[in-house]
Amino acid sequence: MNQSLIEEITSGLKSVTPSISPKFFYDDIGSHLFEAITFLEEYYPTRVEKSIMKMHESQIASAVGTCDVLLDLGAGNCAKASELFNSINPKEYLALDISKDFLELAIVDLKKRFPHIQMSAQVCDLAQPLSFPDLAGKKKTFFYPGSSIGNFTPDQVSIFFENIASICNGSGGFLIGVDLVKDSDVLQRAYDDSLGITAAFNLNVLKHVNRIIGSDFDVLDWEHYAVFNQEQSRIEMHLRAKRDLVVTWPSHSQSQSINFKAGEMIHTENSYKYTKASFSDLLIKAGFDDVRVWTDPQELFMVCYAKA
Ligand code: AVI
Repeated sequence: MNQSLIEEITSGLKSVTPSISPKFFYDDIGSHLFEAITFLEEYYPTRVEKSIMKMHESQIASAVGTCDVLLDLGAGNCAKASELFNSINPKEYLALDISKDFLELAIVDLKKRFPHIQMSAQVCDLAQPLSFPDLAGKKKTFFYPGSSIGNFTPDQVSIFFENIASICNGSGGFLIGVDLVKDSDVLQRAYDDSLGITAAFNLNVLKHVNRIIGSDFDVLDWEHYAVFNQEQSRIEMHLRAKRDLVVTWPSHSQSQSINFKAGEMIHTENSYKYTKASFSDLLIKAGFDDVRVWTDPQELFMVCYAKA
């Protein structure tokens, strides 16, 4: 097992505010549960983003203009980017994600549908600085849908945007989907749905952690808790202990443990929500210009295009 993952998880669990990084949500079951979340009535972001893209397709395409390379950050099955191919008409498509196997399968299929677009896949961890020396001189459009930017802290967002602005080097831009601040009941329902799918998604992280560090978390001892933190403008997901308990795992020759009292929590995810103004500010401060914004009639979600 990867020692650095073990260290990352154990140091998160042992910190003053115990936490597990949201990247550990996405094992096989977690990825399927996330997909199920995107179909839920309460989880509006996926559905609303799609409707904004469709409704403003031609305006988005004219804001983007010519595109030498479309770089799809966190491409997954490449479905969202492929819906832009006809309107944006990129010469090249570069799909980036943590898992290459999944990407390559999706690309094989897409190549048949869009044979005139040159396509490739690259493994990439968005937590690390990005660099594309082979694409120097090409007009690049970065695409980051799904409000995944909400899972970065605002400080991480600034660093990420500066990195992208410098890669664009004065041409191309950034097309990005962002979840907006709204009524906290609507937000809370989106992260605590009536079927309990988000609860299962959150609890499943404990099973994944058990496999990585050999711990003995029992999901039945924990419950899902989601709350909108107004001050930080973010949905927080936590796992709350239902009773006093001890979690143990092996480490070198002896085992390690942590005691949790009933009600104590492990912080598993933040999902930041922005206003049009606060998000545009972040883009402009990072060096982007001329931010265009499209929303749905209820202003639940927005799609932005910022010129580099
Ligand atoms: C992946 N990410 C944008 C989702 C979000 O809304 O923050 C993850 C998620 N967590 C619970 N539901 C969905």
